[in-house]
Amino acid sequence: MGQVTITVRPNGPLRVEDPNGLVDLVDAEGKKFDLTGKPAFSLCRCGASANKPFCDGTHKVACAAPVPPTTIKTEG
Ligand code: FES
Repeated sequence: MGQVTITVRPNGPLRVEDPNGLVDLVDAEGKKFDLTGKPAFSLCRCGASANKPFCDGTHKVACAAPVPPTTIKTEG
């Protein structure tokens, strides 16, 4: 059974692991991005990438303010 995992990277992108090609990534008009041969890819969440929606690594040098880590809050 296929499984998709999306990991929020600290100060970085959303890493999408999709080994079975289950994910469709579409633009605002519903057109699919070509993910052929990409069992994993990273989505920019800092806004600085020149290749949006994909991360191009620019966050490492261009983002003055770190992207806050996202963690699951537990009550207790
Ligand atoms: S998260 Fe990598 S360029 Fe934005």
